[in-house]
Amino acid sequence: MASDEEVVGTVKDQLAKLFEESLRVTVPDQTDTDPLIAACNPRFGDYQCNNAMSLWTKIKGTGSAFTGPQPVGQAIMTNLPRSEMIESCSIAGPGFVNVKLSRQWIAKSIQKMLIKGIETWSPKLRVKRAVVDFSSPNIAKEMHVGHLRSTIIGDTLARMLEFSNVEVLRRNHVGDWGTQFGMLIEFLFEKFPNMEVVSDQAIGDLEAFYKASKQRFDSDPGFKERAQQAVVSLQGGQEKYRKAWSQICEISRKGYEKVYQRLGIVLEEKGESFYNPYIPGVLEELAKKGLIEESEGARVIFIEGKKYPFIVVKSDGGFNYASTDLTALWYRLNEEKAEWMIYVTDVGQREHFEMLFTAAKRAGWLPPGDNSYPKANHVGFGLVLGEDGKRFRTRSTEVVKLVDLLDEAKSRCKAALVERGKAEQWTEEELEQTAEAVGYGAVKYADLKNNRLTNYTFNFDQMLNDQGNTAVYLLYAHARICSIIRKSGKDVEELKKTGALVLEHPNERALGLHLLQFAERKLAPICYQMCCVNTYTTYLDTSQHFIQIVRLWGQRRRQADSCCVKRLQRSCGNAFIYLVFGQSTRYDILGEGSLHL
Ligand code: ARG
Repeated sequence: MASDEEVVGTVKDQLAKLFEESLRVTVPDQTDTDPLIAACNPRFGDYQCNNAMSLWTKIKGTGSAFTGPQPVGQAIMTNLPRSEMIESCSIAGPGFVNVKLSRQWIAKSIQKMLIKGIETWSPKLRVKRAVVDFSSPNIAKEMHVGHLRSTIIGDTLARMLEFSNVEVLRRNHVGDWGTQFGMLIEFLFEKFPNMEVVSDQAIGDLEAFYKASKQRFDSDPGFKERAQQAVVSLQGGQEKYRKAWSQICEISRKGYEKVYQRLGIVLEEKGESFYNPYIPGVLEELAKKGLIEESEGARVIFIEGKKYPFIVVKSDGGFNYASTDLTALWYRLNEEKAEWMIYVTDVGQREHFEMLFTAAKRAGWLPPGDNSYPKANHVGFGLVLGEDGKRFRTRSTEVVKLVDLLDEAKSRCKAALVERGKAEQWTEEELEQTAEAVGYGAVKYADLKNNRLTNYTFNFDQMLNDQGNTAVYLLYAHARICSIIRKSGKDVEELKKTGALVLEHPNERALGLHLLQFAERKLAPICYQMCCVNTYTTYLDTSQHFIQIVRLWGQRRRQADSCCVKRLQRSCGNAFIYLVFGQSTRYDILGEGSLHL
């Protein structure tokens, strides 16, 4: 993680500092003028400052010496402090100040990026600690493809925040405390009267176990009653019931862990049960603030504009999803001191989170608007559909299990590799690792490249296509570039020492600048806006970066007559830049395994 002094700030930030100085001199009376800097059409330059027009609107008629927006722009340009960053400036239209960056400065900055690491360019956020609440399956029910999106999107958000030096509490808010446990425990006792000897294997498939107990619950009133009593005993903390409960949770946990491991995802479980002891205190605080009212036997919080109130205590006196979430939010704010809470679930839960956040605002836990911290956001996503346009299911109409799905992605990849003759060239381990990197990567990428809020159609052939906009293609391109670099016979460490980076060709300059814009173009806006705007797809954006870079290389290759390797040897620096950039991106943000091709 980069320390504060090491963070360089984006190119835009650095330019903004220069323009800030110029504005102070140009319009000393307008002290609150923030520099407006944007990347511009490459025909005119690299960046532009857009302050002249709005400044003119403010100062015209106030006796200022300026006669129009153009002279204001001219003055902003003249007053710019000298800087090695800038090669030249020009004025366009009604006062835009265009800036062309210096080639040497770009080369030097890239060199620094190479030496100090890409982390030093990560965007600065206003928060130090955030909670990302994602994945969060329900115990005893298998994780299904719907949980895939939460897991992948949540992990991506967490990675982006971590990359931006935010401490992320990756929370798995598992559903481990519902009334379903009464039924499950009672069924467990019934099937295994001698609980001491029950092994995980004996319980076997938890989902089937859940279904069987549900059937029993629905068809036998005696069982139903015992199950309801079991909930009371569990919540009352009776040893035997607690033990059975934790055994059931443990089996589920092992199942989830397998999926997380495959996807390379780290999560810390703090399930619903964790917050249970805190609920009464939190509700009391809300009641004291006058938020809680009685309604039809339940205790509720009325939310303006909503048809139904937010039920925080059910009419039977029990707590529910809402009571737990209110308490978890309180805990995250007060005990964990998080400044940003991000919840990743399907869009179906939007209403729940709207009510939760409104209640928290009314309680004064969160500030009114949406732009100040501490802040809470719901990041929703659409359904995963099958080819038939309906909810994704297997032929037996069961929901698709995540493990099966990952298995299939991997085995399809492996088959494709074998078909290409890789089984003869590689060890079994290499074959396995590559099939995993490509297969699991393809599943992640296919999910993220889609619009977050709309439903998306799950299609193996599409996501594993090696020509299209897929992880397979990107990984292939990456591997190809690594191989070019290997063949160039140059050493990254050597390059760090000698500092021999030159950006001769226009494409090299473009590539250099592109890399420097890494933080501002892709990560920063997304980190800031990911919850408001539909642009969480950094994974995609970052990968688009790859594509663009690969294309740039492609152009170079075409121009570089037949032997690209030779040419790369002459100006090898760029290849290394790509290597460094590519790897940092892959490992820090995407977190995939490496490839051998
Ligand atoms: N267990 C819930 C589900 O599967 C998701 C929980 C999301 N997190 C939360 N704090 N409510 O739908």
